[in-house]
Amino acid sequence: MRIVNVDIAHSPYDILIGKGVLASVQTIKALLPLPQVAIITNTTIAPLYLAGLQHALEAQGIGVLPIVLPDGEQYKTWETLNLIFDALLTARCERKTTLIALGGGVIGDMTGFAAAVYQRGVPFIQIPTTLLAQVDSSVGGKTAVNHPLGKNMIGAFYQPKLVLADLSTLDTLPSREFSAGLAEVIKYGLIDDLEFFEWLEVNIDRLMARDDDALAYAVERCCENKARIVAADEKENGQRALLNLGHTFGHAIEAGMGYGVWLHGEAVAAGMMLAAHAARLQSTITEVELGRIKALLQAAGLPVKAPDLGAERYLSLMAQDKKVDAGKIKFILLEKLGQSCIGELPEDIVRAALAAGCN
Ligand code: NAD
Ligand code: GLY
Repeated sequence: MRIVNVDIAHSPYDILIGKGVLASVQTIKALLPLPQVAIITNTTIAPLYLAGLQHALEAQGIGVLPIVLPDGEQYKTWETLNLIFDALLTARCERKTTLIALGGGVIGDMTGFAAAVYQRGVPFIQIPTTLLAQVDSSVGGKTAVNHPLGKNMIGAFYQPKLVLADLSTLDTLPSREFSAGLAEVIKYGLIDDLEFFEWLEVNIDRLMARDDDALAYAVERCCENKARIVAADEKENGQRALLNLGHTFGHAIEAGMGYGVWLHGEAVAAGMMLAAHAARLQSTITEVELGRIKALLQAAGLPVKAPDLGAERYLSLMAQDKKVDAGKIKFILLEKLGQSCIGELPEDIVRAALAAGCN
């Protein structure tokens, strides 16, 4: 088992990574203020992993309330959040009840938000079961639901007490979802870890074959990178924004196409290509480097062309991004391969990048 610590001053916690860590119920038990948990999951994950976790916890004398939500990004809403509150209140769950998120980023983000506000805050644990959630969304305490006018617009920063990333759960992950997770993996290489980007270029086929060692290394490296960035800037006042490379374009793709049509990771991949086109137009990366980014995304089974929503629609959707500051859209820019910064893009560059990077 690999352990990465997230060293946030007011609330440090561990990420346990390995095959079979889902069985670490003693670790969970030791963190509970009361032997009572609610496991929040969805209709796809419940038949795979709920019973095993529930029985293992109950065998330790822990009371378990399972809450099974509908599956899909389109259900990452205020209405679905209310189903969690309905179940918690009906079962008279107290302030010391711990919420456990068993699922991907949608379940993790909604459970974290529910934990942040239920009775003004209850403890929660992340058990991420997608690659995307294991390398990104379960770490760092960003929680949210979507609003029809914008992605992840309603939420809170709220840290989990523990993250259990069981690599065995990835065995059942559909290949399209696995590739979507690789988009966030590649993101870490691009934003500030050139060595990892180059490792990915060499090892992408092993990752696509879900090689145990390659996967364990990649998940650990991503979690180390995220833990470092989040510990330095929990509330995104500065460098945490770098984790949003490709996301300004990507969120516009998700909202513009209708939530759930493009997977989040797919939208981020196409968004990173648009950011790479912008960087090429501004001569901060070379044509060869643009080609390397494209080749790695393609080898990971990801789209490298964005949908043609039209430049006006992209600009309008991006004007609602959370990074908008005093009315100006902020982008994460590639200042060179493996190094990024936050900044603005002239509108003519945005339009030219869209022209180069859309279908
Ligand atoms: P997801 O949660 O929708 O999961 C993808 C699909 O895989 C779902 O159908 C799910 O039921 C299924 N699934 C999950 N685990 C499985 C398993 N082990 N076997 C079989 N099927 C499984 O999507 P995701 O890609 O995990 O997360 C995307 C979400 O994460 C988006 O809403 C995005 O905004 C959010 N996100 C949040 C952060 C953050 O920092 N909080 C970071 C990145 C992304
Ligand atoms: N996924 C972006 C962040 O956690 O900040």
